[in-house]
Amino acid sequence: MKAFRAGPMALGIAALFSGSAVAADPAAMDWKSVPTKTVTLFYPGQSTFQWLRSADHPGAQMVGGGQECVTCHKGQEEKLGNKLVKANKLEPTPVDGKNGAVQLSVQVAYDAQNAYFRAQWKTRNAHPGEAYPFRRFDGKEWKPYGNQRLAAAVRKGEQPPIYEDRFSIMIDDGGVQNFAQQGCWLTCHDGERDSRKQPSADQVKATAFFQAIKKADVRKYLPSTRTDALASWDQGKSLDEIAKIKAAGGFLDLMQWRAHRSNPVGMADDGYVLEYRNFDAGKNPFSSNFDAKSGQPKFMYDAKKSGKKALAIDDIRKLPTVLVRGQNTVPFDPNAGWKAGDLLPQYVVSREDAAGSAADNKQVKGVWKDGMWTVVWARPLNLANPDDKALKEGKVYNFAFAVHDDNMTSRGHLVSFPVTVGFGAKATIEATKLK
Ligand code: HEC
Repeated sequence: MKAFRAGPMALGIAALFSGSAVAADPAAMDWKSVPTKTVTLFYPGQSTFQWLRSADHPGAQMVGGGQECVTCHKGQEEKLGNKLVKANKLEPTPVDGKNGAVQLSVQVAYDAQNAYFRAQWKTRNAHPGEAYPFRRFDGKEWKPYGNQRLAAAVRKGEQPPIYEDRFSIMIDDGGVQNFAQQGCWLTCHDGERDSRKQPSADQVKATAFFQAIKKADVRKYLPSTRTDALASWDQGKSLDEIAKIKAAGGFLDLMQWRAHRSNPVGMADDGYVLEYRNFDAGKNPFSSNFDAKSGQPKFMYDAKKSGKKALAIDDIRKLPTVLVRGQNTVPFDPNAGWKAGDLLPQYVVSREDAAGSAADNKQVKGVWKDGMWTVVWARPLNLANPDDKALKEGKVYNFAFAVHDDNMTSRGHLVSFPVTVGFGAKATIEATKLK
C-alpha cells in the first residue's frame, strides 16, 4: 500500500509551500543556528480552574488573587505530573503506563513573513499515533470504532485505543487577564469533557447558554465569558457581551498540529478559545467522512492506489490510515461488497478544501523517527483576522504548549506552565531573527 504515501508530500515540502518568495521553508531551514529551549510538560489530571480555587488546593487564595503558579510550583513539573498521572483525587481514571512528564525541545525564529517553530518530543509508544478512530462495518451499519484511552469503553476493553498524536500552541498577547500567570489553567473547567462534574449530553442540551452557542458538549473556555465568580460552564454571558470581549482581543489563539487530520497535507488547524474552543472562520483541512442522514461513508480508499478499499484492524500501525481526498480516495460505493470488520476513517483530509482564517497554518510538517516527533511550523506574522493573535516584531507573547500522544485526547495531555516568547524583544524564549 505504498501509494498511500504518494501525492503532494512526495513532491517535497518546497514545492508545496512555493509562492512565498522571501519566506523560509521550515522543513529546509538550518535549525542548528536557532537555540533550543527545553520546556517540561506534565500531566495535569483534573486540576481545573474550580479545583485550584477550592479548599482542596493549598494555593487557592493566592490563585484567586491572580498569583503565578510558579511562585509555589517552580521546577515541580515532573513531580506534579508523576503524582497526578497515578490514581489520586485529581485522577479518577488513571491510564496504565501513561507518562507523567515529557521534555519538549522548542526553537523559535522569524523573518519578515513568518514566525517559525520547531518542536521535538519522545513519544510514549514505539510508533507514531497517526490513526484516528474509524467507523467499522458490522454487517449492517457503520459504527464508531476505537477511541482515546480515557474513554470508558476503552478502559473496559470494549474498544481499541486509537487516537491521533497532537502538538498544540496557545498564544496570549496580554489580552487575557492572568494568562501570563496561570496559562492554560484558565481554560480548563469542571464540566468539560473527561473533567470533574461532567454534565450529561441532555443536561448540556437543556442549558440556555449552550442552546445559544449551538454546542452539544463543554470544551475549553475563558472565565471572562461567564457571569459568576467561579466561571461555571453553564453561566454564560450574552452573545453580545462575548462578541465585545472578542473584538477587544480578550481571547487566546489555539492551534493544533494533528498527526492524522492535518499532518498528511502539511498543515495545522487554527482555532481560538473564548466562550468555547472554536475553530477560526473558514474551513479546516479535515471534515467528516460520514453522511449523518444516510449513516454511510462519503469516501473509501481507492483500491487502485491502496490495494484495498477499506482497512482491517491489523493494518493499523502498519499502514498509513489517512484518507486524503483526491489522492487515495474514490466516492463510497454502497455495493462494493462490504464485509463485517471493514474500517473507514471518520474524517477525510484535504489541503485544497481548507480556507479562510482556519487555513492560516499551511506550512507545518511533523516527522516521526526513532521514537521522536519533530514538527516544524511556519505561522504568518501580522495576521489581521479577528480570530487570530497577530505575531509582531518587537512584541512579547505568553505561550503555552501541549502534547497529546499515547492515544489520548481532551485532558489526557501533557502541558506547560506559561512561557514568554519574544520576537525582537526580551523573553524566556527569544526568537532568532533570520537573515
Ligand atoms: C501560594 C502557593 C501556590 C500557588 C500560587 C499555587 N499552588 Fe498549587 N499547590 C500549592 C501547595 C502548597 C500544594 C500542595 C502540595 C503538596 O501537597 O505537596 C499545591 C498542590 C497543587 C496540585 C496538586 C498536586 C498534588 O500533590 O496533589 C496541583 C495540580 C497544583 N497545585 C496546581 C497549581 C496550579 C496549576 C497553579 C496555578 C494556577 C497553582 N497550583 C498555584 C501551592 C500553590
